[in-house]
Amino acid sequence: MDTELRRPLARPMASQRATAPLSGRIAVPGDKSISHRALMFGALAIGETRITGLLTGEDVLRTAAAMRALGAEVTHDADGTWRVAGRGVGGLTEPTDVLDMGNSGTAARLLCGILASHAMFSVLTGDASLRRRPMRRVIDPLTASGARFASRAGGLLPLAVEGARDALPLSYRVPVPSAQVKSAVLLAGLNARGTTRVEEPEATRDHSENMLRHFGATVHVETAGNGRIITLLGQPELRAADVVVPGDPSSASFPLVAALLVPGSSVTIPAVGLNPLRTGLFATLLEMGAAVTVANRRVEGGEPVGDLVVSGGVLRGVDVPPERAPTMIDEYPVLAVAAAGAVGTTRMRGLKELRVKESDRLAATAALLTVNGVRVEIEGDDLIVHGTGTAPSGGGLVETHMDHRIAMAALVLGLIAEQPVRVDDASFIDTSFPGFAALMGQLGATISDI
Ligand code: S3P
Repeated sequence: MDTELRRPLARPMASQRATAPLSGRIAVPGDKSISHRALMFGALAIGETRITGLLTGEDVLRTAAAMRALGAEVTHDADGTWRVAGRGVGGLTEPTDVLDMGNSGTAARLLCGILASHAMFSVLTGDASLRRRPMRRVIDPLTASGARFASRAGGLLPLAVEGARDALPLSYRVPVPSAQVKSAVLLAGLNARGTTRVEEPEATRDHSENMLRHFGATVHVETAGNGRIITLLGQPELRAADVVVPGDPSSASFPLVAALLVPGSSVTIPAVGLNPLRTGLFATLLEMGAAVTVANRRVEGGEPVGDLVVSGGVLRGVDVPPERAPTMIDEYPVLAVAAAGAVGTTRMRGLKELRVKESDRLAATAALLTVNGVRVEIEGDDLIVHGTGTAPSGGGLVETHMDHRIAMAALVLGLIAEQPVRVDDASFIDTSFPGFAALMGQLGATISDI
């Protein structure tokens, strides 16, 4: 496992303007959010959970390694099926070493929830990007459950957790729209006596709620305005369950936007997750005039999935309302690239949370476009992109700031730019989308090491 996770040196890459339409059918890797949760819930269940389609990107391998360090058995077969022999709710054991969550905010924050209600000592760290990201958003509520945290100033990793012996069930209103914070509170609530209640003012991805039910927990979800109130009955016996991980809609967004922008393209991306709390980008692209249809809609493993069928064409600038942000929070960099290739101005509103992602994504997205000749402004928490419908000049060197999505968005931009677009380090793409360049190559895109 350690060798699988060893970080390579910086990997500069470049993409070149496509001289022919992109075409073909490519499957994107498994959903990152669902993959983390499948491993975690599997580790907290009794029996053997089998997972197919698990994302084997570095972020998820960190979670697999952490679950092993906490006493669960995690193995995989030659055919790609993963097996987790769980320890039961409250049954994880003290890790003998620091848990290194790499680049993954989801892994780190959800794990804090698990650790908060296990009476043991653990230390969490991550890479330079993760060590800059705010952890107080989980430390504060979890402290109220009886866990004790010590962290670097400002609530930064590394942090130490002394989990509560008898965790109190929390009643918590999540102050920022964050599925990670919601999930951390629910995970802590699994090993607390009584009912945990989480109120979110805006609905965020509900994979934790869906999967908790799938593993046998009693979860109620009530709509409250734009948000939801979730209650979880503590100390259920979670039973192992098979999980089929759909293709990641966030990963699909890169070939999808590439196909929309390169004239004449025709691309199919099968079995993409279409959970309505993840599909804000598709709604926005349709408003921009994109030719995207969904074929073969079905439910797999409790999540809606479908095949995305995309054709290249002309996009128009649009105004993206702030309330859509939670349903497309990871898609703004690539939407900004779509906006750069569109005719007219696109205003993306209410992007405050982008500042605390793997990088300050608001600044990094604006910079990736500016350096390639696209006119961009940041006004407060809004990003404004002026598309002209003509090819951007390109030729820029994009700083990725250890952020996989900035790297992939920049490489998609290069497919329509006059000059190649370079990125300083594409190695972080492996956190969520291993094989990205090769897969894009199957569609006819030229993305290569430099
Ligand atoms: C995730 C939630 C989102 C998202 C991240 C994955 C999850 O973060 O950006 O990539 O799996 O719960 P926040 O909940 O912090 O917005």
